[in-house]
Amino acid sequence: MKRVLSGIQPTSDSFHLGNYLGAVKQWVELQDGHDAFYCIVDLHALTIETDPALLRKRTLASAAQLIALGISPEKSTLFVQSQVPQHNQLGWIMECLTGFGEASRMTQFKDKSSKSGADSSRVGLFTYPMLQAADILLYQAHFVPVGEDQRQHIELTRDLAGRFNSRYGQTFQLPEAYILKTAAKINDIQEPTAKMSKSSGAVAGVIEIMDSPEANLKKIKSAVTDAGKEVRFNLAEKPGISNLLTIHSALSGQSIDSLEKDFEGKGYGDFKGAVAEVVVEYLRPIRARALELLEDEKHLLDILHQGSEKARSVASKTLESTYKNLGVVL
Ligand code: TYM
Repeated sequence: MKRVLSGIQPTSDSFHLGNYLGAVKQWVELQDGHDAFYCIVDLHALTIETDPALLRKRTLASAAQLIALGISPEKSTLFVQSQVPQHNQLGWIMECLTGFGEASRMTQFKDKSSKSGADSSRVGLFTYPMLQAADILLYQAHFVPVGEDQRQHIELTRDLAGRFNSRYGQTFQLPEAYILKTAAKINDIQEPTAKMSKSSGAVAGVIEIMDSPEANLKKIKSAVTDAGKEVRFNLAEKPGISNLLTIHSALSGQSIDSLEKDFEGKGYGDFKGAVAEVVVEYLRPIRARALELLEDEKHLLDILHQGSEKARSVASKTLESTYKNLGVVL
């Protein structure tokens, strides 16, 4: 069975629709027929200022949401990154393999550090992609289901794996990014040329899984639309409508062509009403299930501890062969 690994940061109280459509929906599909490892990457979340009580709460909320969205702890290994110390250990080796210039070219660091400037950013934000490479390579993953914004990090991971293998002998599987064409980048519904994002988006532009149905209904009905009045997919001329068509289609399963036909002669108002209904009804049982799971913290912790134990048993084997090939005395 081919291996799949992916990760998500516990940096907010709720995941958003971009996280789900760009990544987690594929995680759920891939757990059938693959050996799947899904990681809540709490160490990556430390690259920005964190509040200890919030980190804990959001790590548990992440687990509850992932399960409510369809990740089955029986089918997949669901675990917390910090509970598997091999991530830090291999992360260091990845840092020692990466050129400073190579790391400086990572666009996510440039974007995230641009607000306050590189000088006041954390070193951990700079070395973030090397820890991510370790996350992936420890599990010998064949596929990494992510959104478009992670493509460059997966390419770096492949480069590092190839470099290590050619210098020290075959050690790592070269992973492939698994990125859907249709939902690789869901945009902010108030600013439809920018990515929907946990950190940078204004609240009104981000559809959150844990938001109340009423709040999401209101947000979608106030989504920004474009000039003209036809419901037509055209990213350049109609970014707002195109984004809403993508969201509707991904959740309802109806093709964009057929949605365009259904809304011929109808206005943006009718269309937004329909998108709101699809989103709200899709998310309603998921939010309810996540809230229910959060009531039993012990059960969630048991699932995560079991997942982390399984993850450690796989990760320790890879780390051992890495050390051996490097000449580290074992
Ligand atoms: P994170 O936590 O920012 O996002 C989790 C996943 O959601 C995807 N995503 C989106 N997809 C489509 N449209 C959007 N607007 C959107 N916003 C987010 C992301 O691409 C991601 O797949 N570096 C990673 C976490 C990570 C990781 C890993 C991923 C750490 N180690 C190992 C894969 C493998 C991140 O910050 O994701």
